[in-house]
Amino acid sequence: MFKHSELESVKAWLARPEHAALPLHARIQRAIRQLILDGALGPGKPLPASRALAKSIGVSRDTIEAAYGQLHAEGFIERRVGSGSFVAEVTEFAPGRRVHQRDALLRNQAPNLSQRGQAMFESGGVREMLAPRPFAHGVPETRSFPLPLWERLERQVLKEAGTAALLHGDPQGAEPLRRAIADYVNLERGARATADRVLVLTSSQQAMTLCANMLLDPGDRIFIEDPAYYGARKAFDAAGLECVPVPVDRQGIQVEGIVAEPRPVKAVFLTPSHQFPTGVTLTLDRRLALIDWAARHQAWIIEDDYDSEFRYAGKPTACVQGLDPHDRTIYIGTFTKSLFPGLRIGYVILPPHLVKPMTVARTLLDGHTASMAQLTLARFMEGGHFGAHVRTMRGIYADRLDVLVKLVGKHLHDFVEPRVPIGGLQMPCLLTGGLQERAAIDAARRVGIELLGLSGLHASGDGRAGFLMGFAAYTPTELEAAVLRLAQAFRTLKRS
Ligand SMILES: Cc1ncc(COP(=O)(O)O)c(C=O)c1O
Repeated sequence: MFKHSELESVKAWLARPEHAALPLHARIQRAIRQLILDGALGPGKPLPASRALAKSIGVSRDTIEAAYGQLHAEGFIERRVGSGSFVAEVTEFAPGRRVHQRDALLRNQAPNLSQRGQAMFESGGVREMLAPRPFAHGVPETRSFPLPLWERLERQVLKEAGTAALLHGDPQGAEPLRRAIADYVNLERGARATADRVLVLTSSQQAMTLCANMLLDPGDRIFIEDPAYYGARKAFDAAGLECVPVPVDRQGIQVEGIVAEPRPVKAVFLTPSHQFPTGVTLTLDRRLALIDWAARHQAWIIEDDYDSEFRYAGKPTACVQGLDPHDRTIYIGTFTKSLFPGLRIGYVILPPHLVKPMTVARTLLDGHTASMAQLTLARFMEGGHFGAHVRTMRGIYADRLDVLVKLVGKHLHDFVEPRVPIGGLQMPCLLTGGLQERAAIDAARRVGIELLGLSGLHASGDGRAGFLMGFAAYTPTELEAAVLRLAQAFRTLKRS
């Protein structure tokens, strides 16, 4: 049941003269929606049974049913047969969603924020799921992580460093970790790194925010891939940059468009090893053309190499940073995919003259990354455990991708066409069977399945319909059960 204060809020909303023109069910629906938007009704919170709420407010049960039906259609609540209605788990921060009516409501609500603050708030941020369920994208398998080994290394670090490990650390990052990262990217990614060019951060997201604010001014233009990673676009929007979308084809970002652009553009952001979300790899000639463009225009290349550890077919391509003799490339790496997201360690490999400014800037954000985690990770890498873990997970993920491809081919062929990726933790699928993307995603969510829509990742917001299916964090049995549920949900949707 609603708390007294929640019920009063609903009643107060109903009584407001400015809402009088709305039908009663719409007023009730909006009142509840407002409680959800305000955070008064958090994700997972059960809503009163329609009969009980009808009685408390003094309306018919059909009116409440109509209100709940609309809330459900908009994705604010979930309805489970036999157990009632609940506030949806992902109500506020669904990644990739574009500004719409709900956000417009938020705009009226925000208390005295700066324009920048308002824009950040309205973007919805990039909060990811706390307990991922199939097919949440970009999530690695964490259940088999070698925790006893990690714990042992952490104990060793504490024993050796003693209470010194409890003090502040170097804002640029712990030296042993910077060395381990430099060795790793040089060997595995063909980078040109040294420990003193590595800046350890908490995430790629932090790296994008730092680059946006340190290398460009509000109003400056930055090329981004179209479609693009929502986290990058939001970081750049929040910094007041003008994102200039550049189409992506089977060979990656179309560099011809960049070279031909008559207006000044200060940087380009891209995911060349494994484009997010299409999964394509940027060809070598385009990499070289991009490096040449950046050198001629003194522009920056911001290279997000987020999941390149996991490549299942063909040889990995060397990163752009390693090919760039002009030091115009900032390489961004993260351990979110290769180890676990809760670690919160990412890094950048910087041109030498950017190391000091970027390090100073990061002290204004968070001082430094947690020392114990850095030192433990350094040991994990030095001991060869990182390489071993990545190799093991690569095998597991390749098998899971295989399983998913077969399952999609068998059970979802009437609805989607999979685009089997050469690597990464998710597979793009294009909708082919006449289903609408929003309806498909909502239908999936009703049966406990998360899909990230593709069309909203396009700059125009109406790119080709489809979704991403994360596969890495789910066992073959879980993948099968989820694909069957999804197929059933799609069949029901098609019939309705
Ligand atoms: C393209 C891309 N870059 C970066 C990240 C996030 O990495 P981090 O957790 O280090 O911010 C993701 C996560 O989904 C991603 O898909």
